[in-house]
Amino acid sequence: MYFPAHRLRRLRKNENFRRMVREATLSVDDLIYPLFAAPGEDLKKEISSMPGNYQLSIDLIVEEAKEVKGLGIPAVLLFGIPETKDEAGSGAYDEEGIVQRAIRAIKKEVPGLLVVTDVCLCEYTSHGHCGIVRDGEVLNDITLELLAKSAISHAEAGADMVAPSDMMDGRVAAIRSGLDENGFQQIPIMAYSAKQASALYGPFREAAESTPQFGDRRSYQMDAANGLEAIRETALDIEEGADIVMVKPALSCLDLIYAIKREFGYPTAAYSVSGEFSMIKAAAEKGWIDEKRVVLEALTGIKRAGADIIITYHAKDAARWLSEA
Ligand code: PBG
Ligand code: ZN
Repeated sequence: MYFPAHRLRRLRKNENFRRMVREATLSVDDLIYPLFAAPGEDLKKEISSMPGNYQLSIDLIVEEAKEVKGLGIPAVLLFGIPETKDEAGSGAYDEEGIVQRAIRAIKKEVPGLLVVTDVCLCEYTSHGHCGIVRDGEVLNDITLELLAKSAISHAEAGADMVAPSDMMDGRVAAIRSGLDENGFQQIPIMAYSAKQASALYGPFREAAESTPQFGDRRSYQMDAANGLEAIRETALDIEEGADIVMVKPALSCLDLIYAIKREFGYPTAAYSVSGEFSMIKAAAEKGWIDEKRVVLEALTGIKRAGADIIITYHAKDAARWLSEA
């Protein structure tokens, strides 16, 4: 009779054993919840492809932020839908812009909740691109100035951290020096470092009304096939002064999360993007999968890959589920 020398099942026997040897843990401390600020009052408009997520006017975004804080989630990531858009994306760096006003309201009414802001132009430009467009081309260096201006305006409004998502070359350095010159040496930058040109951002673009009006984002966002380049992008962001680096999307990029965490040892965020949320949601609504178990499994997998921070539209649900467990 043959007996296996190693029996890994011994430590899987019951939940107490499993708890003791569990490697990766998911905690509410790891989560960031995205919020979409929109003009108006008493506005709570559900994003049809992202059930349970809303465009919220400032009065209601404050209520939402209170709920988020109440659930123990440490931070929100703020996006804005401006009243009007123009070629220069001027709403992005307007002192009275939608995000700037939302930051002030949340910081005043919900102290103790970190407000992180997405820094980009695409929600504010009439053409929907992340930079200034001339002759059909997205220009890099002119865009840098406007990104720095946007980040400064967020910091002036009270943002705790800025997160550039545009993928222009040199933006982290431009934002870092802009912040420093204006007295914001202590405001950290969470850089969308390895951000792919992904089809999984579709639902977000409905939420943020930021679909490019021509072409696509492939001349600035990364090609999804490139892993070594993702390391180089991240190395540059760190050199330029990033405090936290980010991989996006998450589930299709677990190898990049793993490699980047190993290579740099930096605080590493993963953005579980809108399409990841919507896929799980849709399958759950059809009764094909168990939403709670799939979400907790996916988020734990992202942690196991090496992420310290996860930005997810499931953050509120996950916080509730974790506190039940
Ligand atoms: C803006 C931005 C996008 C996302 C975050 N910031 C969209 C894009 O680049 O087209 C995607 C987030 C998501 O899908 O959840 N640059
Ligand atoms: Zn953008």
